[in-house]
Amino acid sequence: MNNTLLGKDLVSVDNLTQSDLKLIFAKTIEMQELAQTKGGDRRLAGKIMAALFFEPSTRTFSSFITAMQRLGGGIIPLNGMTNTSIEKGESFEHTVRVFSVYADCLIIRHPLKGLPLQACQYSKVPVVNAGDGTGEHPTQAIFDTFTIFQRFPTQKELVISLVGDLKNGRTVHSLAKLLAKTGILIHFNFISPKILEMPEDIVRSVSLYNQHISVTDNLAKKIAESDVIYMTRVQKERFKNLIEYNLIKNYYQLSKKMLAKSKKDVLIMHPLPIAAGEISADLDNDPRSIYLTDQLQNGLYVRMALLDLILRK
Ligand code: NCD
Repeated sequence: MNNTLLGKDLVSVDNLTQSDLKLIFAKTIEMQELAQTKGGDRRLAGKIMAALFFEPSTRTFSSFITAMQRLGGGIIPLNGMTNTSIEKGESFEHTVRVFSVYADCLIIRHPLKGLPLQACQYSKVPVVNAGDGTGEHPTQAIFDTFTIFQRFPTQKELVISLVGDLKNGRTVHSLAKLLAKTGILIHFNFISPKILEMPEDIVRSVSLYNQHISVTDNLAKKIAESDVIYMTRVQKERFKNLIEYNLIKNYYQLSKKMLAKSKKDVLIMHPLPIAAGEISADLDNDPRSIYLTDQLQNGLYVRMALLDLILRK
């Protein structure tokens, strides 16, 4: 397959085509095998990845670092930009230009929407968006989609319920847009309190692909029909008013009891971290829950695949 990702930026799912996804998924399976049999190899020896995280991260940061190291590459790991010249007032442009001289790709997380896209103008090397404010989280969406298709390889129609903070949650923005263009028929349930509804532009993008959308705040009513229940955290850091956050943070609390009428192979997903009990601990080891198993594991394999595709001819 022609490597259409070589040397490319990845800041949004908007530019990804079905054939890009096919390429990434094939590579992901290769990476899964590699990691499981040999741990990795040295194919990215001589390449350096700079991870510039201007906002907290556990999984995205560590899985990119792990992915690069499993492929023999070097890393500039900055989880938080304290102790860099940003504290002396250096501009974002200069920071990006500096690291693009040292590294072969930049993985950027930033609290402001649009900054990774801006970085592409300043960088000489490919930029990957690892989450930009309330914008997007394309790599998360790719492995979430991979995970869903791995579990439902032959299904032509799926009911996908996205639940929680759909307004501020960047993972669901990217995931809804990406799933919409995979070529299968999706019945989306956008389930959120009124003040946290999915932004108009995302709804419009999904509608472009003639997918079905139902908008509601009632999770209980949508459980039985769902193939996937994708829970999200209410994004505390995006609230100006913490009183408002405290009132709404426990709006959904998915528990074993609530799943009594679910399909038996429903997937319970969450990008993590679970912060306010939106999924109760009694589901952590339930076979329907995959947020601490497959979903998490695939994050590593997809990031290995992306680094290999972006960095190696
Ligand atoms: C998500 C994020 O940062 O957007 N976390 C992650 O990368 N897995 C979700 C969240 O923080 O709620």
